[in-house]
Amino acid sequence: MRRKIIAGNWKMNKLPNEAMEFINSLQERIKDIQCEVVLCVPYTDLFYSLLTAQGTSINIGAQNMHWEESGSYTGEISANMLKCINVNYVIIGHSERRKYFAETDELINKKLITAISHEITPILCIGENLKERALGIQEEIVLKQITIALQGLSKEQVKNVIIAYEPIWAIGTGKVATKEDVNNMLKGIRKQISIMYDENVAQNITLLYGGSVNKDNAKELLNIPDMDGALVGGASLDASEFGKLLNQYSIS
Ligand code: PGA
Repeated sequence: MRRKIIAGNWKMNKLPNEAMEFINSLQERIKDIQCEVVLCVPYTDLFYSLLTAQGTSINIGAQNMHWEESGSYTGEISANMLKCINVNYVIIGHSERRKYFAETDELINKKLITAISHEITPILCIGENLKERALGIQEEIVLKQITIALQGLSKEQVKNVIIAYEPIWAIGTGKVATKEDVNNMLKGIRKQISIMYDENVAQNITLLYGGSVNKDNAKELLNIPDMDGALVGGASLDASEFGKLLNQYSIS
């Protein structure tokens, strides 16, 4: 079933006390919320955020994880480590991880398989860069990323993957993709899923858009028929602004 989700991606921001303050403040602002809310926080904020968010409508996620169960991977965190403290969401393959940490589609595929097998909902990020868009090959790039990332996942498993289309040129730039661009890409993604799986899976997979979403443009974007929610970076760092953004999600 398609889920209505708005996820915040804090990236490398906020100390535990700031995270706790944020969650308390946000909770007050989203009493009548009509969608799933997920905050993807730095590892060091996870435990404090989970405790603070207990009993609220706010879910806590991580921003990355390793694909192996355990072993000699200095500085890494496994799915098991996340799951044992009740982290049920993880961002996989964000463009900043692809760019700064050389993550490939093949590696992202391994992470997705591991997340799914630990019953952690992965938010898979895909998207083209400015050069690829200028060349008009954005759909080709995105569909290739999806095809490799989902390799080996069964129909049952893929239903639990959330896909976030995040054109790289729109991330943190204030440049938002047009409604038409987003809609076309999300339609293309559903079509590709129907080819890889079937129409039922394609119509039921949850698709988000990310890239400079804020409280002022969210309402219009969230009306895009194939879009089920958003992945929000900068505008998720301020509880008042994020609260306003979340309150625009009406499922009526
Ligand atoms: P942005 O970031 O909302 O600041 O553009 C989105 C993201 O990186 O997920």
